[in-house]
Amino acid sequence: MESAAIGIFDSGLGGLTVAREIARALPGESLVYLGDTARCPYGPRDLGEVRRFVVEIGSWLSHQRIKFLVIACNTATAAGLTLAQRAFPVPVIGVIEPGARAAVMATINRRVGVIGTVGTIESGAYSAAVRALDAGVTVFSAATPRFVEIAEEGLRLDIGPMEGLLADSADVFVRPSFYEMARDYLNPLKRSGIDTLVLGCTHYPLLSASIQQVVGPNVQLISSAHETALEIAETLARRDQLAPPDRTPHHRFATTGDAEEFARLGGRVFGATIDGVEKVTLEALTAHATADLLALLDDSATGETSCA
Ligand code: DGL
Repeated sequence: MESAAIGIFDSGLGGLTVAREIARALPGESLVYLGDTARCPYGPRDLGEVRRFVVEIGSWLSHQRIKFLVIACNTATAAGLTLAQRAFPVPVIGVIEPGARAAVMATINRRVGVIGTVGTIESGAYSAAVRALDAGVTVFSAATPRFVEIAEEGLRLDIGPMEGLLADSADVFVRPSFYEMARDYLNPLKRSGIDTLVLGCTHYPLLSASIQQVVGPNVQLISSAHETALEIAETLARRDQLAPPDRTPHHRFATTGDAEEFARLGGRVFGATIDGVEKVTLEALTAHATADLLALLDDSATGETSCA
């Protein structure tokens, strides 16, 4: 089992920020990553629909010889983590609880901000996760839906002299207008006196330098990627399923969208060249979701959305 891969998925490229941390923390582990680019973004969708995507992608990944499943998307975690844990035979981890834990450990004044997609913020999953860890921490949240498209757009812009664009130390380029919009989103959180801000969407670490500039140096940014990687390492170690760190990993990347574009942009997020990206059609992806698994969706129609 130790030679089996870690399965990871997201609506697109953002989850590669998590995959990158997992590859760093566990260099001997092979990864199988699926980016559901054809159906990105998940954020504005109904959580019931996203929950069906979780079943479909989890089923596909379960057929790729995996020993662990990582939902590297906050929206999909809010929608379907509990269901996925019931549905699949391997341990399943999302990114919300690790992010909440890192924030609770980091905050000094116990005022934590969370930004994410509409789906994630409206689910209340972060507030619930923080409350479960420390009921004395107050959470202030705001949906920042346009950040996903801005991060993706920033990735598509080539590095080089570009009129009207600001380059700073962020992983991606952002237009000057970003800052005005970001201030509108983030100033209310700043006024709440937060000292910690959770980047509750796996796309947002691509914008972290720009977000930091808006919230100022006294607010610590938290991304759940590192904490998630640590939790995977601990679970695999306890199960005696860790690959030795000196083993050469074999990573596989797949997308429901444009494979060539995924390889080009994804390599920048993953921090290493991504070769041979597989194209998985939506028909092939959905073919693995059995009637039994899809029936779980009906059982979870109530209660789970609010993970709260
Ligand atoms: N990366 C996804 C998340 O963490 C959001 C992107 C999307 O809206 O699809 O929530």
